[in-house]
Amino acid sequence: MTIQFSTKIFPKADLQNAKELKSSLKTLLAQTSDCLVLAYSKADLDSFVGVKGTKSKSGLLAELDLLSGGSVSHAHLLGDLDAQQASVCVLRGDKSWVASGIKAKRVLLLSLGDMRLESERSLVTFSKAARAALKALSSSSIENALWFIPSFALGHRADFIAEEVRLTIQYAGDQSYRFGVRQPTMKFKVKDKADAFKHLVFAGNNECAKDLKSAVEQGIAMVEGMHLAKDLGNLPPNICTPTYLGKAAQGLSKKVGLKVEVLGRKQIETLGMGSFLSVANGSDTPPQFIVMRHQGGKVGEAPIVLVGKGITFDTGGISLKPGEAMDEMKYDMCGAASVIGTMYSIGLMKLKKNVVGVVPTCENMPSAKATRPGDIVKSMSGQTIEILNTDAEGRLILCDALTYVERFKPKAVIDIATLTGACVIALGHVHSGLFSEDEGLVDALTKAGRASLDTVWRLPLDAAYQEQLKSNFADIANIGGRPAGSVTAACFLSRFTEKYKWAHLDIAGTAWKSGAAKGSTGRPVPLLVNFLLEQK
Ligand code: BES
Ligand code: MN
Ligand code: ZN
Repeated sequence: MTIQFSTKIFPKADLQNAKELKSSLKTLLAQTSDCLVLAYSKADLDSFVGVKGTKSKSGLLAELDLLSGGSVSHAHLLGDLDAQQASVCVLRGDKSWVASGIKAKRVLLLSLGDMRLESERSLVTFSKAARAALKALSSSSIENALWFIPSFALGHRADFIAEEVRLTIQYAGDQSYRFGVRQPTMKFKVKDKADAFKHLVFAGNNECAKDLKSAVEQGIAMVEGMHLAKDLGNLPPNICTPTYLGKAAQGLSKKVGLKVEVLGRKQIETLGMGSFLSVANGSDTPPQFIVMRHQGGKVGEAPIVLVGKGITFDTGGISLKPGEAMDEMKYDMCGAASVIGTMYSIGLMKLKKNVVGVVPTCENMPSAKATRPGDIVKSMSGQTIEILNTDAEGRLILCDALTYVERFKPKAVIDIATLTGACVIALGHVHSGLFSEDEGLVDALTKAGRASLDTVWRLPLDAAYQEQLKSNFADIANIGGRPAGSVTAACFLSRFTEKYKWAHLDIAGTAWKSGAAKGSTGRPVPLLVNFLLEQK
């Protein structure tokens, strides 16, 4: 099911200005909606309950209580109001509401906790609250809600508004994703029952109107990209082939005007991508090399380049993987999916920057034509590689793509790959691994991760680890042994990135979930979109 997001501006509504409080509340309550969502802080609850000895109640909750015929007092009496962060209380309207001109059928009161405490005023704690409110909205018969943003900005700085709004949309979009809804070519049935919840209206006032509108547009675009990335990840490997990914990218050229080029085997040969081709050799499915360009910036402005690993199925090749959970290796193209998804998002946003998305894509299969352990191949850079394990194939397709992108004279290059099982051991499913020697990129990516709660954790990439990649017979070996497996994989890539600023994201632990909730997460689209939005 898709949720619609929109904005509605009530020019003077302001719940923090005591003089305007009553009329603002009246205005919001007079708006027809299934549910008005308001945030309050511990301070609001304290002044409603009243300081010991005095009976003077004041503030947001007191005014709401007066207007709603005592609904807040009633909820408080029942013990439903709680200063604890993320606690949710739904007030339901009755005849008295209608009589006093209230057109909201419900009011959802969301506690933000104690906003006077610095520790409670973070995006992480806001996100917990927003998630709780969205869960309450989507697990009821509520179809639409009016979400009054300035009440959430309580105790926050105004510049949090954009991040908060984007995050709320990201969560709502995430919750509403269903596999099989958006791919018209697929015949799969949607199993889950759709939620009743369909429309979230972000309400604001004149003060935040501009920020609010652009943040909602950005959030919507980001969710579209995430959904595309999820669909591509979740599609079975017999359908989501390299050719399918190429077509998906080409589809975006019609949708959002990306310039898309898809190179086939012949052209890949002509470019001299011997390393990439050595992986593709074992499969009957032809490899593709996809280049997508978004020209939102000035002509000649150096682009940011994103490179995504697109192994549509990783059997390990001749170094065959064990059978357990091998189906999950359909997700080995999630780096590619995140690049395609991100390009879609920024196309929808009409981002005013130049961005190039590059995806080398093929299957890693064992066959009579497959590469053997011990084979030596020549990469596009001219460096020779001794392939000691055909299951370390991601780096073999990425290294040629990393050489190819030199031609764009990039401002920076970021590659995204489900590269190593070792990264899952190191970081689990919480953070993506970040590898870079460029402090500026490290800072920007770390910040973008925090702002979208699609976080990264830096791992080392220093020369000491390069030792492990020594080969007796070629310039470099494709594996560095078990110790620090994700570091040596990054070290391998670093040999092909000397001409530009570069960062590598290992998303092996974060791109999909296993078990009962098996499915693509859409990560790191939020991180990449936030990073690109923040680029100067
Ligand atoms: N696609 C895998 C990495 C992977 C494994 C991601 C499991 C998520 C879960 C990659 O191509 C691979 O097989 N890497 C090997 C490298 C090794 C042979 C040096 C690995 O991690 O075992
Ligand atoms: Mn592999
Ligand atoms: Zn792989």
